[in-house]
Amino acid sequence: MSKPRVYVTRMIPEPGLELLREHCDVTVNDRDRPLTREELLANVRDAEGVLGQLTDKIDAGFFDAAAKLKGYANFAVGFDNIDVPEASRRRLPVSNTPDVLTQATAEMAWALLFAVARRVAETDALLRTGVWPGWGPLLFLGQDVSGKTLGILGPGRIGQAMALMSQGFHMPVIYHGGGKPAAAIEKELGARRVDFETLLAESDFISIHAPLTPNSRHLFNAAAFAKMKASAVIVNTARGPIIDEAALVAALREKTIAGAGLDVFEFEPKTAEGLKELPNVVITPHIGSATRSARDNMALLAARNLLAMLHGDTPPTCLNPEVLGKK
Ligand code: DGY
Repeated sequence: MSKPRVYVTRMIPEPGLELLREHCDVTVNDRDRPLTREELLANVRDAEGVLGQLTDKIDAGFFDAAAKLKGYANFAVGFDNIDVPEASRRRLPVSNTPDVLTQATAEMAWALLFAVARRVAETDALLRTGVWPGWGPLLFLGQDVSGKTLGILGPGRIGQAMALMSQGFHMPVIYHGGGKPAAAIEKELGARRVDFETLLAESDFISIHAPLTPNSRHLFNAAAFAKMKASAVIVNTARGPIIDEAALVAALREKTIAGAGLDVFEFEPKTAEGLKELPNVVITPHIGSATRSARDNMALLAARNLLAMLHGDTPPTCLNPEVLGKK
């Protein structure tokens, strides 16, 4: 019996590919860059399964092009690149990769938070220029983290993991968003659910972990920055467009807020004009989940999801399980 044809839109860690190759006829985009829209649509024409990236738009045009498709597996937990209702209308299962990257992404949020608070990138750059004049009592004074208020936007898996990691720093935790109360952090940390205005006004550090939706797009805009403390730091490891990046540049320049740690950007891979020149911002290239084990596990989970779809089984982390069994 011939193996189902699978297209992988970008090279992923080997464990996922190995698993797919055992059961499928696999083609991988071997260019080390995202496919253009035209390339994507041309390459998925014969595929019964596609394993894709957050940079691939999985919408009606994609489903039209991939006429033999039985399912689509995203190599990401975020799925704002997928038109899930459209997939469901066509009775096509789609999946994401939750859980396996939770700790890695929460750790990255902390890395950025500390890097901004203690001016790690700025001081690293100074040392590399070779003009460090030596120890100084007033050199690069930063901010304390311990005891400060941590505000979480989006208390899902990653948001709650980040909050739980604050335990050693004895930080009061407040949070906003989420359908139901965030039980783990309420119980463990006494975290308080607050409205958005309170999150802005009371947080010393705000870390964004919400999904990108029409409601969260540009939630952090000039008006929001104006309501934050002048000493506040914002961290984003979720999706860039949740922050109006031009407004953030203005807020950082005018010292409306003190700093930002950004792993994601509004128009990736571009950054807003002026952002890179600001000393009070630390920027990393969307590497929140980029530990070896998290990426291996994402590849394995995406592969397992896709294999289940190809066999007509329920994928471990399906976004629209209601379509299964109704074809
Ligand atoms: C995700 O999974 O959504 C991240 O942005 C990439 O790992």
